[in-house]
Amino acid sequence: MTKIIGVLLEEHRNIKRLLHVLEQELNVFDHSDRPDYEILQAIIDYFQDFPEICHHPKEDMVFAKLKVREPAVAERIGDAEVEHCVETERLRNLALAVEDVLAGREFLRKDFHNVVQDFIEHQRRHMDKEENLLFPAAAKALRDEDWAEIDARMNDRKNPLFDGAVDNKFRALEKTILRWERETQANRVI
Ligand SMILES: [Fe+2]
Repeated sequence: MTKIIGVLLEEHRNIKRLLHVLEQELNVFDHSDRPDYEILQAIIDYFQDFPEICHHPKEDMVFAKLKVREPAVAERIGDAEVEHCVETERLRNLALAVEDVLAGREFLRKDFHNVVQDFIEHQRRHMDKEENLLFPAAAKALRDEDWAEIDARMNDRKNPLFDGAVDNKFRALEKTILRWERETQANRVI
């Protein structure tokens, strides 16, 4: 496994932790309680801040190289860049839904549920596809010089939530992630 695929997998693991928190908050909402909208906003902020700017562009570079080395394989996988644009749109819908609710604008509960659920499901499906198809295909097809070029062009800005010192704006989110993980763990033990 190349170093870059290792980095991408680690970033996926972190995204999955956030989707888990989002799912727990959705569960709270579905039971007619008030989810923690600040946490929802922090999750949206994080997605806009890191995966959009640092994670997806890396994968786009990997996909672009795969298209050069193995066009037929890339074609079978589908267009990673287009999929990332669709994910951006889903993230925007989620951000707007949370803004609407917080601003007291009318929003049907069912619609809010669907927007959040849609985001979670598609993110997971999208990552599964990358892990099962894109990454193994790239590991096979890309040459050392491709990885070196990606590495040189990669934006390796620090992950503001999962890499050592956490940015102030994500402190509460970090605590919530750990709390939900502890509670999920406790439920499993029982
Ligand atoms: Fe990804």
